[in-house]
Parts: sequence; structure tokens; C-alpha cells
Amino acid sequence: MTKPDYEQIAAFIAQHTRHRPQIAIVLGSGYSALADEITDADTLSYADIPGFQPSTVEGHRGQLVIGTLENTPVFVMQGRVHYYEGFSPEEVTLPIRVMYSFGIDTVILTNAAGGLNPGFQPGDLMLIEDQINLVGMIGHNPLMGPNDPSLGPRFPDMITVYDRRLRELTIAVAAELGQPLRRGVYVGLSGPAFETPAEVRFVRLIGGDATGMSTTNEALVARHAGMRVLGLSGISNVAVDAVDTPRVTSHAEVLEAGAVIVPRMLALLRGLMRRWPEAA
Ligand code: HPA
Repeated sequence: MTKPDYEQIAAFIAQHTRHRPQIAIVLGSGYSALADEITDADTLSYADIPGFQPSTVEGHRGQLVIGTLENTPVFVMQGRVHYYEGFSPEEVTLPIRVMYSFGIDTVILTNAAGGLNPGFQPGDLMLIEDQINLVGMIGHNPLMGPNDPSLGPRFPDMITVYDRRLRELTIAVAAELGQPLRRGVYVGLSGPAFETPAEVRFVRLIGGDATGMSTTNEALVARHAGMRVLGLSGISNVAVDAVDTPRVTSHAEVLEAGAVIVPRMLALLRGLMRRWPEAA
């Protein structure tokens, strides 16, 4: 595959919107409704954007919504593509590099995740403090291959993936809203199968508080480019850690939890946009 021309794709998007946001928000499974809150929106279907892939997953709309939230310009991805859909790690993370070329310096990654931490409940929001990129660590990693130094260094530092100032601001906004906010480590798996109970115990043992099928490679590529990253997981279900438990984990459950999580996520995102100057 020849390298996509990120600058050219960014220029295409710029031709189709009046806005020049510096903040991007990637909406995870079940969170599409959040994009309806964007005002003065210019909308572009992924199918019309060179290099972008339409998502094949229910709950992912597959369009860019560029407009304002609380008077702050935002570049919203209403749905993303995942590795389990058969896209390469480079394809999954292409929008992050396009955002960078577009002039975006901060990306807010949201996702639906299974709770591993025994204290978590469905409907909780978790601020991602750090990640374990299991998919990337075994080589399904968008930074494999020749490195283009104009995109970032060969060996990017990953000590602080999730920006400290943005985490502090999020904690302050949640407190102001009186909204509980969990914190923890997100483990990125490939899916599409949900985990076995033994796998749940494994990812908990290695330090995970929540697990899902997105986010970690996107965060990796964003950090490679020097962008600031904020990560928010909505806990859609509690991962089951014992066999013979009469429960089933399903995508329907993930989407249902979205209805509870969306208003909480929206309140947090609005609060963040209102106080954004403090994050600069
Ligand atoms: N496991 C992995 N991914 C998920 C889950 C889960 O339990 N819930 C939502 N995404």
C-alpha cells in the first residue's frame, strides 16, 4: 500500500468546512447521539472522504461533524473503524494523522469498555490514566515499518500518553458537575469476541481497569505526532470473570448502556469545552 497523502486528505476536508478546530473528539460505540449537539455543523460522510473507511459496526454512524460545542470549534468523528473489522492498524489510525495535518493538536478519544475493576458499574465514566496496547505490543501496530520523521520520531516516548493537564481539568469539571469519575488503565484488545473469564482475569492481573477494542493505537499515533490525548471510557458492562455465570455479554448491551452514558459524557464534554482555555 502506498502511503496515504494525509495533507491532501486534510485539504479536502478543509474545503468542505468553514471551521478550523484544534480539538477532535472520536465517538465510541453507542455515542453517535453526542454529535447531534454540535452546532453550525458541516457534515461529511466517511464514504466521501479519500482514505476514510465507512464503519461496518452498528452504533457507528460514519461521518465527520465539524462545528462548535459550547462555542468551541470541534472536529467530531461520529464513529470509527476497528482492527477487528479487517482494517489494518494504519487504516484504523489514518484519521488521527489527517487530523494532525488539518491542524488539530488535541484529540479526545471516547469508547465503550468492559469494566475489569470490581468497583466499576455499568454507566460509570472512567478517565483513562494509562493504557496497555496489547494489540500494538504484539506487532499489530501502526508505527511498524519505515518511519516518516515528518510524522514523528522512530522511538516515541510513551510515559505520559494521556495529557496530565487535560486529566486534571476533566477531574475538576466532573467534580463541579457532581458527577462521579473513575480513573484507571485501559487495555486495548483486538476483539471482536468478548473475553473469556480467564482472559478477563488475565487483563485484570496485568493492571487493567477497563478493556475494549479501540483507542490504544489511535492514542499511540497521536502521541507519535506530539498531539495531546484525553481518553474517556464509558463502562458499558462488567466483564465476567467466572465460567458458568448465567450472563451473556453482547453488543446490544453495549449500545443500551450508551443511552445512560451519553448524557454523562455530554455534560463532561460541555464542561470541558467551557473551561478549555485552562487547558491551553
Ligand atoms: N470487552 C471488550 N470490549 C468491550 C467490552 C468488553 O467487555 N464492552 C464494550 N467493549
